[in-house]
Amino acid sequence: MERIDIPETTDRVERYSALAPQVRELLREERDPIAAMANMAAALHTTFGWLWVGFYRVMGAELVLGPFQGPVACSRIGHGKGVCGSAWAEERIIMVPDVEKFPGHIACNPHSRSEIVVPIRDRDGRIAAVLDIDSAVLDDFSEVDAHALGRLCSLLEPLFE
Ligand code: SME
Repeated sequence: MERIDIPETTDRVERYSALAPQVRELLREERDPIAAMANMAAALHTTFGWLWVGFYRVMGAELVLGPFQGPVACSRIGHGKGVCGSAWAEERIIMVPDVEKFPGHIACNPHSRSEIVVPIRDRDGRIAAVLDIDSAVLDDFSEVDAHALGRLCSLLEPLFE
């Protein structure tokens, strides 16, 4: 298996470009969504050094913590609650430049300053999981991240039945 290898000096667009084929290769023969999410979380965390990178899966009326990299986090989030539950309910990517200004933000870590949540659909088009990324840097996410993370997450969608 190839290891994720991207120089730290590379800018964010270039890092995504370098990461995408490596992740595609990593997931090429993996059909299990947990294994795929685990490696995707590790690849993103290693490449960008964000505070927390992980997944929550839709289980009934809640999001339940899945594979992640970073400090311990809340294990269950209700539909429409926090940034993750809102991205699930509204079925759209949500970027939060300043978590203190997002009403209902669930503070799992005091060092988190900004956040992005990307919903992931199953094969039938229903939301199956969300990718959640917390940064210790204020206003750390842009359309570049939304676009690139959306594309990476679409690689997981065929794995959710
Ligand atoms: N901040 C998230 C909760 C999950 S943690 O950040 C890992 C939210 O408001 O949904």
